[in-house]
Amino acid sequence: MNEQNWPKELREFHDELESVHLGPLWASISSFNSVEPTPRAVPYLWKRDLIQHNLDKAKTLLEVGLGSAERRALFLINPGMQHLQPYGWGGTTQTLYAAIQVVNPGEVAPPHRHTSTALRFVMQGEGGYGTVDGERIPFEPGDYLITPDYCWHEHANEGTEPVVWMDCLDTPFIMALNVSFTEFYPKRRQPLTVPNDFGARRYQGGMVRPISDRGSKPVALGRYRWGLTKQALDGLSELDVDPFDGYAVEYINPTNGKDADGRIGAWMQKLPPGFQGRAHRHVHSQIFYVHQGQGYTVMNGVRFDWSEGDFFALPAWTWHEHVNTSSTEDAYLFSTNDLPMLEPFQFERQVDYDENEGHQTIEHIFQPTVP
Ligand SMILES: [Fe+2]
Ligand SMILES: [Fe+2]
Repeated sequence: MNEQNWPKELREFHDELESVHLGPLWASISSFNSVEPTPRAVPYLWKRDLIQHNLDKAKTLLEVGLGSAERRALFLINPGMQHLQPYGWGGTTQTLYAAIQVVNPGEVAPPHRHTSTALRFVMQGEGGYGTVDGERIPFEPGDYLITPDYCWHEHANEGTEPVVWMDCLDTPFIMALNVSFTEFYPKRRQPLTVPNDFGARRYQGGMVRPISDRGSKPVALGRYRWGLTKQALDGLSELDVDPFDGYAVEYINPTNGKDADGRIGAWMQKLPPGFQGRAHRHVHSQIFYVHQGQGYTVMNGVRFDWSEGDFFALPAWTWHEHVNTSSTEDAYLFSTNDLPMLEPFQFERQVDYDENEGHQTIEHIFQPTVP
């Protein structure tokens, strides 16, 4: 029952209880035991130009390195999370944080490690590399990288142009559980302890693993190259298309087949020209980065138009369908999800949208903020 609908004496009693830090379950039970999830995050989209404009400004105001800014990254705050202190808990969805980070030529973002887990998708620039627990990992646009929790990591750029990537961390999840620990490495760099690009070189075979990795390892591979991901999608594209997601692959840990990162799932999906996905919804939330192409995603009846370089947030339990509006070009969407956080508790559920042949009615077109 709505608070206003309770008799006056009870409403006064509720206020009295609140003032002494007690709660009336008879009034709150339907909020706690909601019929279905009521996500705090809302569907939202950030345009490439808006991000670029503000990254350019950050570049002029901040230097990265030991003794100055540790990281130069802008994170995507979901409007529905904005009121949470501090900084909307870094929530792009209720569990996931996403940011765009830039490292200029010659800069080194110094090593640290933390309880939150991190993954990255490289957007632009040659000559960037990370060092993760003593392994130097070079990367190129389209590569997917992981920095599992509590691994020392730093970022550097030995190229001639800025290197830009998407970060995704489980920051809001860590904030909700209040389990954050962070340590700072005492020096500007950490020592290298294995050959460069160790993991990716050991797993060049793709479908085979070194015999020493028969026991499951949490970080067997830190870098997933774009060329191999694309090859996997091309192979899949000769077969049946998924009615909701086109052709999609998940990044996995090659020693055990589970998600590459223990707490954040990641996909690369290809929507072929003219693809019109059906709508469904699920408990897991997702953050999308448009790697290539153009189209739109309808979320709860609102159309979000996207093109290369844009980001959008799909909150939990939100109806959605993806469309590639090009009749000639594939669209590639990179996305992250919180499935690995939900599945151990059997929290995931999925429902198809059955009305109107699986398509929502578009009631509104989202107007993005531009610089
Ligand atoms: Fe970090
Ligand atoms: Fe979906």
